[in-house]
Amino acid sequence: MHTEKIPAREGNHNLQDYEKMRKTFSWDDMKKNFSWNETGKVNMAYEAIDRHAENPDTKDKIALHYSSPDREESLTFDDLKKSSNQFANVLKKYNVEKGERIFLFLPRSPEFYAAFLGILKVGAIAGPLFEAFMEQAVRDRLQDSEASMLITTPDLLERVPQDDLPDLKKIVLVGDSKETSDKYIDYDKEMKDASTDFEMEWVDLEDGMVIHYTSGSTGKPKGVYHVHNAMIQHYATAEWVLDLKKDDVYWCTADPGWVTGTSYGIFAPWLYGVTNVVRGGRFSPDAWYGTLDKYNVTVWYTAPTALRKLVSAGSEIPKKHDLSSLRHIMSVGEPLNPEVVSWGLEAFDLRIHDTWWMTETGAQLIVNIPSMEIRSGSMGKPLPGIEASIVDNEGNELPPNQMGNLAIKKGWPSMMRKIWKRPEKFESYFINGWYVSGDSAYKDEDGYFWFQGRLDDVINTSGERVGPFEVESKLIEHEAVAEAGVIGKPDPERGEIIKAFITLNDGYKESDELLEEIRQFIKTGLSAHAAPRELEVKDSIPKTRSGKIMRRLLKSWELGLPTGDTSTLEE
Ligand code: WTA
Repeated sequence: MHTEKIPAREGNHNLQDYEKMRKTFSWDDMKKNFSWNETGKVNMAYEAIDRHAENPDTKDKIALHYSSPDREESLTFDDLKKSSNQFANVLKKYNVEKGERIFLFLPRSPEFYAAFLGILKVGAIAGPLFEAFMEQAVRDRLQDSEASMLITTPDLLERVPQDDLPDLKKIVLVGDSKETSDKYIDYDKEMKDASTDFEMEWVDLEDGMVIHYTSGSTGKPKGVYHVHNAMIQHYATAEWVLDLKKDDVYWCTADPGWVTGTSYGIFAPWLYGVTNVVRGGRFSPDAWYGTLDKYNVTVWYTAPTALRKLVSAGSEIPKKHDLSSLRHIMSVGEPLNPEVVSWGLEAFDLRIHDTWWMTETGAQLIVNIPSMEIRSGSMGKPLPGIEASIVDNEGNELPPNQMGNLAIKKGWPSMMRKIWKRPEKFESYFINGWYVSGDSAYKDEDGYFWFQGRLDDVINTSGERVGPFEVESKLIEHEAVAEAGVIGKPDPERGEIIKAFITLNDGYKESDELLEEIRQFIKTGLSAHAAPRELEVKDSIPKTRSGKIMRRLLKSWELGLPTGDTSTLEE
């Protein structure tokens, strides 16, 4: 076990006395930071954008530096207020009402942010999708949410199975298209005609705001439903964990299809009124260091998978760039390897602060903050206002150093409020008043939490959460595949890779061509990150007597581990 202790960094950090804050803080203390505390008028988009645009001191401050390989733009808070007002007017024109689900299947771009904020301004619920999704992934999410409108590009439209989506009434197209039916709305044309003034739809703190679909170990992806109230925790973590100061330039590398890209790529920085950097396009070490350099990024939130790639790209590339503005780095999504933390100390002369949370939790819960000693390899300690513990399967707390379920006392501000249309699924997360995360961990004597792994079969590949069921279901749609069992296999760079075991239907013979064809079938039908890197043909797939695939057993076989209890194995 790595127990390297990295002392707190000196400085005037926003949260200097963690222990004291833990004892004295109540979530109500945070409410004074919001205008609705006095006006009673609530909307996340108002707090994140309009409030700063109405203030003469921040009206012309840069809210968004956008860059991609072929486009660069910088927008002020006032610009974003106006463009999101325009989009809200477009939505109103087409009779979008409060509570409707409006999905975005759109690359990161200024249009994305105008549309996203416009959706919130009319009181509708935004559903951002990864640009990499293929037909099946798009279908599952739009069908389940009964989305009434989609904002996409003419290129991505090809992956939208419209015939299967009866609720989808309108599609806004960003970019030139030949579509003529009145189902389609031309973004550029409508925006040009729309007013930059808009009467905000005031909502309740408990009204829906965003739905993120995420994978569990069974069933289709589930719609995790978040409400405007989450802003209380986004603001608190912007202050304590992101440690933002008003003149910071902040870059969160996450795509808004992932909760990190909304909670920390949109809400937290803008609630705090800081300049936000967004990069489109693919990862490359040179371009990433270049972005830090070009915008003089001061606070950076990224993921272990990207950091590991930067480590392997070597120490010469960063030397070409001036990274001296950087003062604070954070990571999320997977275990942060102590080796990467050590590298960070050398490459940037900075600590990398691990943070732990989930789509369902809406915001950071267990964190390392600047004024705290880091125990390399640990996720840190619970945020003030958060009670975290390790519990057994009945929800009883376990003593320090004992491994169990990582659990959080129910009721923090950004907690999901439901799983869309699946109340029983939502209830299943809670045991004895605890939200049970599905992660196994232990807590040491000093209150630091240490991640050990997943307790279910969810796969974490390069920080992307993939449900084995989703991949198995797609695999058996291929005409050659009879049965499939999918597991995560440890991998030094990606954390885990996806390995699929399949059996073939009669008349099919194993060949490299066939396996490659099946891989492509997943890649083009579901999404690239869900495509198995390894595919193995077996005579049979182990199942329980009730017909459940025994993924644990497949994994034990694969890793050469003891197989444990196999008494439920089918004859
Ligand atoms: C994993 C949303 C180790 C964990 C942010 C969790 C982590 C799942 C960490 C959530 C971390 C997230 N250390 N593992 N700091 N952060 N995870 O919903 O298994 O896509 O349950 O992430 O990612 O994945 P999600």
